[in-house]
Amino acid sequence: MANTNLTAAKTAKNDEFYTQLGDIVTEVNAYLEYDPDVFRGKVVLCPCDDPEWSNFTRYFASRFDSLGLKKLISTSYAYNSKEPKPSFVWQPTLFESLNPNFDAVKSPKLGKIFTLTDKEEPPRDINKLQWKYLEGDGDFRSKEVTELLKEADIVVTNPPFSLFKEFMAWIFAQNKKLLVIGNKNCVTYKEIFPLIKDNKLWSGRTEWSGGLWFETTDPNDVDKVVNGVKMKNVSSVWFTNLEHGRRHMPLPLMTMARNCKGKHKELKENGYLKYDNYDAIEVPFTDAIPTDYEGVMGVPISFLDKYCPEQFEILGMCENEDLYGMKTKVYTTEECKAAYFAKFGKKGTYDLNASGVVIINGVYEKVYQRILIKHKK
Ligand SMILES: C[S@@+](CC[C@H](N)C(=O)[O-])C[C@H]1O[C@@H](n2cnc3c(N)ncnc32)[C@H](O)[C@@H]1O
Repeated sequence: MANTNLTAAKTAKNDEFYTQLGDIVTEVNAYLEYDPDVFRGKVVLCPCDDPEWSNFTRYFASRFDSLGLKKLISTSYAYNSKEPKPSFVWQPTLFESLNPNFDAVKSPKLGKIFTLTDKEEPPRDINKLQWKYLEGDGDFRSKEVTELLKEADIVVTNPPFSLFKEFMAWIFAQNKKLLVIGNKNCVTYKEIFPLIKDNKLWSGRTEWSGGLWFETTDPNDVDKVVNGVKMKNVSSVWFTNLEHGRRHMPLPLMTMARNCKGKHKELKENGYLKYDNYDAIEVPFTDAIPTDYEGVMGVPISFLDKYCPEQFEILGMCENEDLYGMKTKVYTTEECKAAYFAKFGKKGTYDLNASGVVIINGVYEKVYQRILIKHKK
């Protein structure tokens, strides 16, 4: 596939984000460092990944032999099915229209499947990818793409964020390995958090701070332009159930007394506060998790970026629905109104039941979304 065709295709697409090759290389290297044979003999599926613009497909196709893959399958989603409609009008790329398989009527309506197998003569690379139309539009939820999932060992992609829960349920229903990109806040979804709590899903190698930069061609949604490429920063992180070394590196921590004399003003002023509605202490910063507290601690969501399962156990989340039955108190409407008045000096309702609550100088304060953890013995 010529580079110019890939570039032309990228320029034509306005509404979608594309993962950078460098980010994929950095992330996948961590799994290879941990287990050089992690992809050997495996079938990798990249759904939601048209190779005309997907670096996922490009990555695995170009390293097919060195990774020792058995098969690479990549599927694309039909233009006509994309919602919201991309701002550009569909037109075939040269790569597509020059191919003998090309059909101008089918192309905007049907998804495509691209495959590369170890049956090809070496060297196998992106030039040996074969494609044909799918029977349907390439929706990952379709029976057709689900059959491909069943055949796969590892799913690797950046799925549509709006369908993240469905996408994860789709993969977990078939018990597959995965390496995918999702929004940071996905960890709080009640469908996703239990997977993390039970160590069936965890953060990938790339650290969470700073989010990820994606290529975008939408002129109204650009954060910076690098070498003519429009880029958008999104609060996205990698999620996986593949092992990598960083996951097993314990966080270096200090005692409560040391932290209260350390860099965090909140801890210097108030020490570690106990929640009013959970039997746990509030730890407002991941680096201030004390080494010498044996009970339950509420920590920021970004703790999951540093979570080492040998060091900590995840017990639950401070949340509306109290999925794990850890709340010790439910506030009445009157208490919520009184708390609002005490805090803001006017009438209103402070939804104390939505999160962990601490009391500072007699005033009720809700904390940000917290994950409840404790040290492993
Ligand atoms: C965030 S983009 C990522 C594209 C590509 N994976 C990458 O990272 O470069 C998500 C892609 O999923 C496609 N998509 C949306 N809904 C889909 C569905 N139901 N089934 C399959 N793909 C879908 C979108 O059209 C879009 O191309």
